[in-house]
Amino acid sequence: MPRPSVVEQNPIREAIAADRPGLVSMLESIQRLRRGLIGYPMRPPDQATPDYVAELFRLIDEQDGLVLVYDIQGQVAGFVAGFVARDGDVNAEPDFRDYAMISDVFVRTNLRGLGIARALLADFEARMAKRGVKHLRISSKVKNEGATLAWERLGFDPYETVFVKSIATPDEGAS
Ligand SMILES: CC(C)(COP(=O)(O)OP(=O)(O)OC[C@H]1O[C@@H](n2cnc3c(N)ncnc32)[C@H](O)[C@@H]1OP(=O)(O)O)[C@@H](O)C(=O)NCCC(=O)NCCS
Repeated sequence: MPRPSVVEQNPIREAIAADRPGLVSMLESIQRLRRGLIGYPMRPPDQATPDYVAELFRLIDEQDGLVLVYDIQGQVAGFVAGFVARDGDVNAEPDFRDYAMISDVFVRTNLRGLGIARALLADFEARMAKRGVKHLRISSKVKNEGATLAWERLGFDPYETVFVKSIATPDEGAS
C-alpha cells in the first residue's frame, strides 16, 4: 500500500460491508497485540474475535455507533469504531456520564506515525459532536504504552485505572 501523501483527498469515509474482512483482520491484530506483545491472559484471536465482532456491531447498531476508515486508493489503512454509552457511576454529573466510547482504533504498522489516527479521531469527534455528544472516552491496556501515549497526545486525560491481582488458591498458599 502506498504511504499517504501530505494530504490525501477526503481519505476518511464510513465503513461499508466490503470493508468487513479487513476490519476483522485488524481486530484480530489488536487481540494478538493484547495477548502476545502485552501479555494479558486473552483468548486467541481465532476464538475471541468472532464473538467480539458480533458484540461490537450489535453495539454500533443499537447505540448510535460509527465505524470510520482511512482509505488509501481503495485500501483500508486504519479505522476507528465507537458508539454512544452511559456511565453507571451515579456520583458523576449527568452530563459527564453520557459519552461516545471509542472502542477500537488500528493503523497498519507501516503507516503509523503519519497522523492517520489523529485524522480518524478528529473526524469521529466531529461527527459525534454533531449528534450532541459532549465527551469522548477511549481506553488502552496500561502495558500498551504506544496507545496510552498517543491518546494523551490526542488530548485525552487519563481518568480511571483498573488494577488486577491474582488470588492464590489455598493449595498454592500452603506450599
Ligand atoms: C495507537 C495507534 C492507533 C496510533 O496510530 P498512528 O496513526 O500511528 O497515530 P498518529 O500518527 O495519528 O499519532 C497521533 C499522536 O500520537 C503520538 N503517538 C502515536 N503513536 C505513538 C507511540 N507509539 N508512542 C508515542 N507517541 C505516539 C504521535 O506522536 C502523535 O502526536 P503528535 O501529533 O503530537 O506528534 C497505532 O499505533 C496502532 O494501531 N497501534 C496498534 C493498535 C492499538 O494499540 N490500538 C489501541 C487499542 S484498541
